[in-house]
Amino acid sequence: MTTGQRCDDCGTELGARDTAMRCPKCGGLLSLRYDAPAERGQALRARFDARRSTASTVDALKHQTAPLDASGVWRYRELVLPDADAADVVTHPEGNTPLLRRASVAEWCGADALLMKHEGANPTGSFKDRGMTVAVTQARRVNASAAACASTGNTSASLAAYAAHAGMPALVLVPSGQVALGKLAQTLAYGAHTLIVRGDFDACLRLASEAAERLAVYLANSINPYRIAGQKTIVLELLQQLDWRAPDWIVLPAGNLGNTSAFGAALHEARELGLIDTMPRIAAVQASGAAPFAASYRDNFRERHTVRAETAATAIRIGDPASYSRAVRVIRETNGVVLDVSDAAILDAKAVVDASGVGCEPASAASIAGVRDLVSRGVIRRGDVVVAVLTGHILKDPGILLQYHRETQPPPARANRPIEIDAELSAVERVLASARKSETDLQIPRYARNDR
Ligand code: F0G
Repeated sequence: MTTGQRCDDCGTELGARDTAMRCPKCGGLLSLRYDAPAERGQALRARFDARRSTASTVDALKHQTAPLDASGVWRYRELVLPDADAADVVTHPEGNTPLLRRASVAEWCGADALLMKHEGANPTGSFKDRGMTVAVTQARRVNASAAACASTGNTSASLAAYAAHAGMPALVLVPSGQVALGKLAQTLAYGAHTLIVRGDFDACLRLASEAAERLAVYLANSINPYRIAGQKTIVLELLQQLDWRAPDWIVLPAGNLGNTSAFGAALHEARELGLIDTMPRIAAVQASGAAPFAASYRDNFRERHTVRAETAATAIRIGDPASYSRAVRVIRETNGVVLDVSDAAILDAKAVVDASGVGCEPASAASIAGVRDLVSRGVIRRGDVVVAVLTGHILKDPGILLQYHRETQPPPARANRPIEIDAELSAVERVLASARKSETDLQIPRYARNDR
């Protein structure tokens, strides 16, 4: 059973169906409270494993709970929303994202055992779907008439899609001129009422929170504890993919700090329930122009910093992260680290991930730039098992891609410029010959680039 919600700061208890997103007494953030599942350790692992191996579309037609098992979120429902009725659940399904190894990326980072958990493989192309399936399910359970969010783009695309699925109106507030093209296009196409706000993300979030309180719409931002409950499954799923052997490190990009909070909660529970024996360390990576959490970390969290955010990684262009206090606890509990990386390092890392055939959006590449930085400083050791989370799909931000690959003043190191030709075979032949020559010059056997 979900027994209720509790304020992280002062312990005030609220009912499970209360739609307040902050503690009415002290303004602190709320967490869901559950009865612990009946099983622990091996038995609980076996339950999750059995669901993974039987879930299929055919099963879904036969059994009522099978659609839940087919979701990489609802498969872990005892740790997400144990008492959700299958009929209420708004699922695509989502999750089931791959854990990838690419030698070229590992080599660039200097981390031999680097894996990438690609959350861009979710239905709307980002990890947000994992939290949104739970938040929109809860919105339906409390009979909300509409749902709203502020967003740098991915949350809005995700809310728009899940609200469309639920037949519920969605209202999204996005900062003017700061949302990547793919995300804005998705949000419009899925049918959300889209408000382009003259202000930054932090202003959008203040406005969305006010609208939720005064206009009785359901707030689907990551301060919503149901969002966090869903996002825990990124960690649960990657642990399951590793046969429940915890990695040494989990590295993720950090903006509003909802995901950092969710990862901490998942690891805490996984450890308490005996799903894993050791605690991975979390590394939260910010863009240097939007790094208030990294500044606070360097201060030993004595002071909560805020900044006017500016970065090419628009998904994490956030200056006053809402889940700050929760994320501080997570970094402390996991002996974690917080760092920032420059936009140039992010775009370099992105070009490496893209050229490996995997691809990701700019904010996601902060994970990879972060791993390289931590290895170079000896914080991550070469042989450590590292899972870097890629949070969004390569096509989320086509604008930055084309800018990078077409830039001539000067061309970035990994730019792959398109070549315009006349419609003649000889022109194709010339390009092919020069491509072969540069490969020989580099002495990279073509077949060996990624699969060593
Ligand atoms: N990566 C991507 C691709 C994101 O879209 C976000 C956040 C983050 C990382 C950071 O996660 O905020 O939990 O620390 N995007 C939000 C949005 C803010 O509105 O889509 P966080």
